[in-house]
Amino acid sequence: MPKLNICAFRELTAEQRLSAEIAIVANPNPAELAALPNLQWVQSLWAGVERLLTEVPQSDLKIVRMNDPQLAASMAEAVLAWSLYLHRDMPAYKKQQSAKIWKQHTTPLTADRTVSILGLGSLGLCAANRLTANGFSVFGWSRSEVNLEGIKTFNGEADLHALLSRTDILVVLLPLTMATSGLLNEQTLALLPRGASVINFARGPILDETALINHLDSGHLAHAVLDVFSEEPLPKSNPLWTHADVTVLPHISARTNKITASKIASGNISSFLQTGEIPQSVSRKHGY
Ligand SMILES: NC(=O)c1ccc[n+]([C@@H]2O[C@H](COP(=O)([O-])OP(=O)(O)OC[C@H]3O[C@@H](n4cnc5c(N)ncnc54)[C@H](OP(=O)(O)O)[C@@H]3O)[C@@H](O)[C@H]2O)c1
Repeated sequence: MPKLNICAFRELTAEQRLSAEIAIVANPNPAELAALPNLQWVQSLWAGVERLLTEVPQSDLKIVRMNDPQLAASMAEAVLAWSLYLHRDMPAYKKQQSAKIWKQHTTPLTADRTVSILGLGSLGLCAANRLTANGFSVFGWSRSEVNLEGIKTFNGEADLHALLSRTDILVVLLPLTMATSGLLNEQTLALLPRGASVINFARGPILDETALINHLDSGHLAHAVLDVFSEEPLPKSNPLWTHADVTVLPHISARTNKITASKIASGNISSFLQTGEIPQSVSRKHGY
């Protein structure tokens, strides 16, 4: 954006701090945003904005999150890859190999394997379509009611219970909000059928890690693939690192792509400069 004056925060003069209108941020220091009193809106480079919503001092500041089709495609690829990992019993064969055990398991048809996605937003919907295209039976859960071709949809708490009881692989792609924090706990995980697995690619606090370990240890759940944790980086002392039924990933399921995200951010800024309208921003009421 050659016609604009884009500066790193530390390079701004006192005068520029007063005139800054838009901030482009990832995980900003709240004090830095507080030092920009005339901001009109913030462009987040991340899709998840729970920290911005709670930490940014200006409570009425509009936050525009990263809504990049490339990010959704990357997440859909990750969801497909790890769903196939679980579908083809790779955790079991990995254990068998280390014990030199030659034992064949029957793999059901993908159509008989139900993968349920919690969250049917930009990422969840793209992942659901990718799974459907690969033959899985796909369920989806969102806050509002929605009809989608080829995907059985659910909404609301009662529906969540119905969905969980019919799920083989549960994929979490919800935002972290007051309503979703601790959503997957001792009771809700117990609703999954015995032998089900969980993939959490959203945010750590949505899934109670102790409850998850309890359900894995009792044999109720088979495996968990976790890309996000209540504390990141995952502390070396956390038992999830060494749990035989857990795959730990370092928050890589869908990383912001610099090239495509730059285009989205610059497109949003150009549109604002032309029309004066702030791009669609996050709902503070709903927290996403
Ligand atoms: N691990 C990674 O690398 C990574 C990368 C990017 C993003 N993420 C995480 O993924 C999350 C989802 O991103 P997104 O872009 O898909 O978000 P989004 O477009 O805002 O979609 C959120 C979805 O969750 C649903 N939802 C929200 N609160 C709910 C509730 N209380 N009950 C039921 N459904 C609820 C929404 O329902 P409605 O459709 O009814 O609104 C919507 O379908 C982000 O918030 C971020 O935390 C992780």
